[in-house]
Amino acid sequence: MDTITILFLIFLSSLLSFPFIIKQHKPLSKPKLPPGSMGWPYIGETFQLYSQPPNIFFSSKQKRYGEIFKTHILGCPCVMLASPEAARFVLVTHSHLFKPTYPKSKEKLIGSSALFFHQGDYHTRIRKLVQTSLSPESIKKLIPDIETQVISSLESWVSIGQVINAFHEMKKFSFNIGILSVFGNLENNYREQLKENYSIIEKGYNSFPTRIPGTAYSKALLARQRIQEIISEIVCKRKEQIKKDLLGHLLNYKNEKGETLSDEEIADNIIGVLFAAQDTTASVLTWILKYLHDDQKLLEAIKTEQMAVYEANDGGKMPLTWSQTKNMPLTHRVILESLRMSSIISFTFREAVVDVIYKGYLIPKGWKVMPLFRNIHHNPEFYINPQSFDPSRFEVSPKPNTFMPFGNGVHSCPGNELAKLNMLILIHHLVTKFRWEVVGTESGVQYSPFPIPLQGLPIRFWRIQ
Ligand code: HEM
Repeated sequence: MDTITILFLIFLSSLLSFPFIIKQHKPLSKPKLPPGSMGWPYIGETFQLYSQPPNIFFSSKQKRYGEIFKTHILGCPCVMLASPEAARFVLVTHSHLFKPTYPKSKEKLIGSSALFFHQGDYHTRIRKLVQTSLSPESIKKLIPDIETQVISSLESWVSIGQVINAFHEMKKFSFNIGILSVFGNLENNYREQLKENYSIIEKGYNSFPTRIPGTAYSKALLARQRIQEIISEIVCKRKEQIKKDLLGHLLNYKNEKGETLSDEEIADNIIGVLFAAQDTTASVLTWILKYLHDDQKLLEAIKTEQMAVYEANDGGKMPLTWSQTKNMPLTHRVILESLRMSSIISFTFREAVVDVIYKGYLIPKGWKVMPLFRNIHHNPEFYINPQSFDPSRFEVSPKPNTFMPFGNGVHSCPGNELAKLNMLILIHHLVTKFRWEVVGTESGVQYSPFPIPLQGLPIRFWRIQ
């Protein structure tokens, strides 16, 4: 075979290796839309989705139509995907055909340069900086500060002396850890200013987006502007120092032309990371408190594992080490099972940038595409008896692409190691020195917007040593 023939064959085989290719100008048979119902004109099935827990909407649809189905919510036609292969297709192998999509009003609050609104070059460059600042090498240095933060949070919950809302307290804790990973040890007065303004942004995030003065949304836009000013002030003070936290990486960045990031790009990405880190970590931590409380036998086993570390550290006098946190197998399995059970990010959104054919179905350009993580995590085909909390199922690894609490592909969570480290350290101090009880008998789920235990899990805390 001559070189030309070989090159031609390579070219041909590279085409054939993309069996799902997009934009078939002359399709052999006209591809059809996935099964499903588009509901009423314009409002579609929005009411059905929001009038019941979203899981029930998704799982009843999956039962009726299978793993790919269409619907219409919040004014947008959507295709929902409930199989591991479909999620991988959208998020990993064909991610270039689907762009991230968020309502413009929310994008404005966080800042349009935040990495999760982007695809391509800009996203890759910023993501590298975020990933480096959250890599195991970087976060292992944070362990002493995380421990200090954990102990001070646990002690403050005891000192309140009455029932606390676990989710609200976990949010404060997660925010402080977010600040730590972005700024390192930040002066108290800046931290308080950031906290105050950030909580105003949060209130606006889930409110009606109008700029009419006095509304939650317009106050949030002003708070966002103030946060940018606070960050600029912090930057001015620190220009001389080379630091290895996220702010340091963003400040030191230069592209091939020697250009640095603008103040706005820096602020948007800092607000974005704080936003991505807080409610997610807090929701899962709240579920962990509930799951451990509800299974006293498991709690005893966790205590045994953690007491061994506590004794090895001279009754908790020595700090935890990175290798100790990497050697807590049962606690680690409890975290994985909590992530699966709670599936706090039930799904994500993308938008098709061209017409895409998947398994013979057409996903039209401009339609939203939603991989349904929760349906995959709760599918009995992948997890036997999926509604029962059973950490031992993680003694063997899940099948590929069936465990995606942190997403998958180019936009998967760069904070996943830090989130797990926070949980390990919090559980260590919690079970070795404290006890808690859940107050009230009502149990259930509420959406805030992530699923959390009812009323944020009211609990009482006390110290035992
Ligand atoms: C239990 C806690 C957490 C969960 C369950 C979680 C989950 C996720 C998921 C599912 C995604 C992908 C979303 C998508 O594909 O549309 C994501 C993205 C992201 N997460 Fe997390 N996350 C957690 C904690 C954190 C923390 C602690 C940080 C940072 C300190 C963080 C920073 C980010 C960022 C910056 C992105 C966007 C990445 C990109 O677009 O390239 N997350 N997270």
